[in-house]
Amino acid sequence: VAEPLGVTLLGCGTVGGAVARLLGEPRSRAAVERACGRRVELRHVVVRDPTRPRDGVDPDLVSDDARAALADPGIALVIEAMGGTDPTRGHLLDAFAAGKDVVTANKQLLARHGAELLEAAAAAGVRLRFEAAACGAVPVVRALRESFAAADVTLVEGIVNGTSNFILSSMAASGATYDEALAEATRLGYAEADPSEDVNGADAAAKIAILATVAFHARVAMDDVAYEGIDRIHADDLAYAREFGHVVKLLGRAELIDGRVLAMVSPALLAVGHPLASVGGSRNAVLVASPSAGEISLSGPGAGGRETASAIIGDVVSLLNARHEGPLERGEGYRSLERFPVEDRVGSFYVHVDVADRPGVLARVASAFGSADVSIRTVIQRGGVGGEEARLVLVTHPAAQRQVRAALDEIAAAPDLARGAPRALPVLT
Ligand SMILES: NC(=O)c1ccc[n+]([C@@H]2O[C@H](COP(=O)([O-])OP(=O)(O)OC[C@H]3O[C@@H](n4cnc5c(N)ncnc54)[C@H](OP(=O)(O)O)[C@@H]3O)[C@@H](O)[C@H]2O)c1
Repeated sequence: VAEPLGVTLLGCGTVGGAVARLLGEPRSRAAVERACGRRVELRHVVVRDPTRPRDGVDPDLVSDDARAALADPGIALVIEAMGGTDPTRGHLLDAFAAGKDVVTANKQLLARHGAELLEAAAAAGVRLRFEAAACGAVPVVRALRESFAAADVTLVEGIVNGTSNFILSSMAASGATYDEALAEATRLGYAEADPSEDVNGADAAAKIAILATVAFHARVAMDDVAYEGIDRIHADDLAYAREFGHVVKLLGRAELIDGRVLAMVSPALLAVGHPLASVGGSRNAVLVASPSAGEISLSGPGAGGRETASAIIGDVVSLLNARHEGPLERGEGYRSLERFPVEDRVGSFYVHVDVADRPGVLARVASAFGSADVSIRTVIQRGGVGGEEARLVLVTHPAAQRQVRAALDEIAAAPDLARGAPRALPVLT
């Protein structure tokens, strides 16, 4: 019988607590042992406040001494569910140097320091796994690493932030404002006390950086992702989108265009028939496309303590069963790909402009688009309350984002024309 695998768990909050309970419950312990032919034993749990009682966790294992817990020769694996980049980054480097494999759920750490961490793991001959950092329980990293290993992936796109998807879905269903939907999401536990990284797109951008790295075998970091969140979306954008036969989703996209990487996160209009358009509530879904394997989509819960812990345990099983480290940890086969600037991306755009309600405004708006060489496919014009203000909502024919931006800048710069900043969202097919 193989020796049990000793584990140090860094962090015992929402995710770490669920991992500790899964490794403690007899049924899940037995399932893990069956899956990998070896017992997995929790030997240290590192937290900030070791005096706090923690449900289902043996208090004798709990301490605030990361150094000792990482150096213990009785452990071979570190599970990191502490979050943040400091001191976590140092803990992971220490773990690698001590010859320990690591499984992490930390997307911000990976999206900022992934290349450094993978190199350090490679140098130490150990492995780093991070399924839970991308889409919680949705096994998209494994699908990209293994199922698509030979498939030459060209596109990964998805709804990768459950909080934003919950907010947009409830705005669409009830006509609620952004603030009302955010308040409901907080009340129901779908939004954190500080939801800024979820709603401003940073969380989704970190996940897209990770997915692009795995999908394209290229070092793609957070700084390579052009991102925007849902915090400027109005209820009427969703209503207009519906008139055009579309829904609004916060979409992350990593794409190879002429051998260059485009990575972006933006609220976008999706045609109602798009495979991601019907993903509602707090669910995540990712679509992977490759010329050889076609289009495949995966969906499920993108967060939650138990769901994320289940993905972490999946990584532990995969590590124990793998015969060697993966290509990313071997530092092999990284492609050095140029970036494709998001401003050069060509597509249709939905544009929303509030204008002064007087004769000739439509012609002036049209002329701003004309001088940027953008042609307009559809326009809806609505008078405003009291006849002071009117609203122009339009969808362009395909144009580069920088051309649409030029037209909007010209409109915004005419003080007698625009009321408030115009909004533009990509329309994705
Ligand atoms: N929550 C989710 O649904 C979810 C989903 C996917 C990925 N993740 C990722 O999982 C990670 C953990 O998230 P979480 O929601 O579980 O966070 P959390 O509930 O805030 O738990 C963090 C844990 O780490 C400990 N900790 C934090 N800083 C520490 C430090 N400097 N030294 C020692 N211990 C420290 C805390 O100790 P105390 O308990 O003493 O405060 C706590 O036990 C994050 O990277 C997050 O992005 C979370």
